[in-house]
Amino acid sequence: MLDVNRIRADFPMFKNNPELIYFDNGATSFKPQSVIDAVTHYYTSETSNIHRGEYPLSAKVDSEYDRTRQTVARLIGCEAREVVFLAGASAALNQTAYGLGKSFLKAGDTILTTENEHASNLLPWFRLQSENQIKIEYLPVSKEGVCDAETFKKAMHPGVKAVVIAQVTNVLGSVQPIKEIAAIAHENGAVVVVDGAQSVPHMPVNVKDLDCDFLCFSSHKMCGPSGVGVMYGKYELLQKMEPMLLGGGSNARFQSCGTVQLKDTPEKFEAGTPPIEAVIGLNAAADYLMHIGMDEIHAYELHLRKRLVSELQKLNNIVVYNPDNASGIVTFNAKDVFAQDSASFLASRGIAVRSGNHCAKILHEIIGTDQTVRASMYFYNTEEEVDKLAAACADISVENAIGIFF
Ligand SMILES: Cc1ncc(COP(=O)(O)O)c(C=O)c1O
Repeated sequence: MLDVNRIRADFPMFKNNPELIYFDNGATSFKPQSVIDAVTHYYTSETSNIHRGEYPLSAKVDSEYDRTRQTVARLIGCEAREVVFLAGASAALNQTAYGLGKSFLKAGDTILTTENEHASNLLPWFRLQSENQIKIEYLPVSKEGVCDAETFKKAMHPGVKAVVIAQVTNVLGSVQPIKEIAAIAHENGAVVVVDGAQSVPHMPVNVKDLDCDFLCFSSHKMCGPSGVGVMYGKYELLQKMEPMLLGGGSNARFQSCGTVQLKDTPEKFEAGTPPIEAVIGLNAAADYLMHIGMDEIHAYELHLRKRLVSELQKLNNIVVYNPDNASGIVTFNAKDVFAQDSASFLASRGIAVRSGNHCAKILHEIIGTDQTVRASMYFYNTEEEVDKLAAACADISVENAIGIFF
């Protein structure tokens, strides 16, 4: 079991907010001192642009920036040249959709996805639907949002050219069988795009083992700075893919007649000055997580979830929507109480959770409600915090929750 007290000492947010119980890790995560130090060091001692300067400071920052690619590659089991830095999971998913729309998908092709997906993993594909006449079909999922391999196999057909799916969904924390899905998709000639925003921070993810073609995730949800995320892609697919952004840093040369020769992957996707400090901070974050161990993080989150679910299931006033999913996300409502009112009530007890539709606006077609309360845990949460959340939930009622302002 993790030594949570020692871990919490690494995070200044706990020292500076001693009363706060933070269960909104699906939205963003706290940062350990090592990440803050890495960013501060860049600002205070190493500020310079990358891949442009001939002086030693610039060369040093170049190598730190490039080292992050290697660290991320170790984290997800790929080659450094397959790691593209973009502004976040949303930017990475937009680039993937744009690139596949330009070079791979054609009018009449089908994309298979689920009604579980975050807006950032649906809207870029909706654009292909309206602009490129691509069809979108939704996979059947269980009441906890999971699409098992058998169901997936039945839904596949020769028209499907891309499968677009979150490895862990952001509302129900449904863990999808990506490895099995990828094997079936590939047998049928489809590429597999995985939204890893809620999986990479929380569990071991190895793209070679999963054999997914693309994986997109954000640094800020995995203890790193905001402003940067990763698009992993298989090298040969990235080489064929067109970048969404063009500009300095991504081209080898261009002429006045308009011809442009792009650099190789990954630089061709990184036009303009990137968020250098965030990339350097992401290196520290990925190192930090790997030092603790992704297996240990995942096991600990599952332990916390089990405890929370079992406490919540004892309460007559609470409905849990995802008791069996294997992630640190627990989604519930208090009976007859609007989710935002429940969240405000919990906030009045110092507990931060998310409420609403969580950017998964068509999920209500699965669970029958579009407003839920989501407690999303991370490895620095404690059993005591879980117990306090459950105790506070026991007190949510129509009378208590409405009209709470703080
Ligand atoms: C499953 C999922 N995908 C994509 C995103 C978008 O991430 P970002 O806002 O960091 O771009 C989120 C954010 O909550 C998410 O939960």
